[in-house]
Amino acid sequence: MPLSQVEYMSDVWKDDLFANKVVFCTGGAGTICSAQVRALVHLGANACIVGRNVERTEKVAQDIATARKGAKVIGVGAVDVRKLDNLKDAVDRCVRELGGIDFVIAGAAGNFLASIEQLSVNAFKSVMDIDILGSYNTLKATLPYLTESAAKHRMDSETLKPSPAGTGGRIIFVSATIHYRGMPFQSHVSVAKAGIDALSHSVAIEYGPRGVTSNIISPGPVAQTEGMDRLLPSDAKAAYIKAQPLGRLGHVRDIADATVYLFSDTGSYVTGQVLVVDGANWRMSAGG
Ligand code: HXC
Repeated sequence: MPLSQVEYMSDVWKDDLFANKVVFCTGGAGTICSAQVRALVHLGANACIVGRNVERTEKVAQDIATARKGAKVIGVGAVDVRKLDNLKDAVDRCVRELGGIDFVIAGAAGNFLASIEQLSVNAFKSVMDIDILGSYNTLKATLPYLTESAAKHRMDSETLKPSPAGTGGRIIFVSATIHYRGMPFQSHVSVAKAGIDALSHSVAIEYGPRGVTSNIISPGPVAQTEGMDRLLPSDAKAAYIKAQPLGRLGHVRDIADATVYLFSDTGSYVTGQVLVVDGANWRMSAGG
């Protein structure tokens, strides 16, 4: 069974932490993003996930809905994040059926291994469009609801008491670490992820005054993901795992827990940050 379908369990977070909250997620049928959404749903949220493949997106949505009795999870397929109108339609449906948007995860990404010589201009542009333009479009389509939710959930700036309504108005962009050091055959993805980081930092500064928080989660090598399967040949896997500082790969739950932290009260003063969840993988390969 894929790790993202494994039931999310935690003794750390309250079961109703995200009761009455709504999360909107692009790339939500992917291994990492579906695990992030599953955790939020388990902890009380309802969700709308969007993806390009209709059947897969609807099936993953149904699967995530099993995380909590009574959960509402909508899967909207045929959404290409390169098209703002596609996203606006999905956002409209989310708001109509679930009542608003409190949290956004911008996770849609495109990736393949190719040298710079092999990459056509269109191939490079396709990844820029999916990753950078797609993240921008996701932000643009959800921003009215994020700012509305942020206004409802503002912490009292005099007393610093958390809002009794909980949290809202938060966005996480899913990035990577490969652009910190460069990686062969990943120039296109490295450039795209650097752009996404810059977008998130700008959102934190520009929309902070309206209560919106924006952060990056940068997963390292996570087991059973498409990215890992493509980048790591199976005969090199055991040695690779042994060489990791923590002696293991990441689990999708590691990324899910980072998401819960950033969306909960514990993450209220954290914005404009990059949360690397990689077991020190990139520091090790960058030479410490
Ligand atoms: C070289 C390639 C290629 C390959 C596609 N192209 N695959 N070039 N090597 N393996 C070229 C095509 O020839 C074409 O250029 C251009 O890219 C666009 O291809 P299309 O198939 O027309 O585009 P599209 O259908 O939009 O597909 C986008 C895609 C595809 C990015 C190429 O791989 C995709 O949709 N991926 C989404 C799923 C995915 O990759 N998920 C993994 C995310 S993991 P020409 O010149 O011929 O027109 C992840 C982890 C990142 O992101 C972190 C890693 C550490």
